[in-house]
Amino acid sequence: MLNDEVREKLIQTAVEARKWAYAPYSSYKVGAAVLTASGRVYDGVNVENAAYPTTMCAERVAVFKAVSQGEQSFEAIAVASVNGGMPCGACRQVLSEFGLDTTVLVVNDQGEIVHQATVGDLLPGAFRPQDIVRES
Ligand code: THU
Repeated sequence: MLNDEVREKLIQTAVEARKWAYAPYSSYKVGAAVLTASGRVYDGVNVENAAYPTTMCAERVAVFKAVSQGEQSFEAIAVASVNGGMPCGACRQVLSEFGLDTTVLVVNDQGEIVHQATVGDLLPGAFRPQDIVRES
């Protein structure tokens, strides 16, 4: 449950994760921390690459770490950057796969909430799993 204590811990985990960001090209360090329904927290950072488009965002690293450990239900995700930048479209889409009600806390490097919304708020009209209709 996202009470004050858990929310603060999630935010601090995202802020602290920034130190592991691999961002030699943009110098824009992003940390993320996702809270699962089971109460676990998985962190992530952006991982850039000399072949720029292969870069991976912090949010997706956190979600993929969680999913690869058997988690598919997310209560909240905190995303931390120097200025509280918003999650990109690809990350919104990946989050939407697992539910539209996940709370997104966008924070700056001081852990101050710059924006709070649900995934559904951030990606209206998301393409969802049930939108895939198989043609025979
Ligand atoms: N980035 C993220 O980690 N998450 C986002 O939602 C937006 C962008 C990263 C990718 C890249 O390493 C850097 O920020 C600049 O785009």
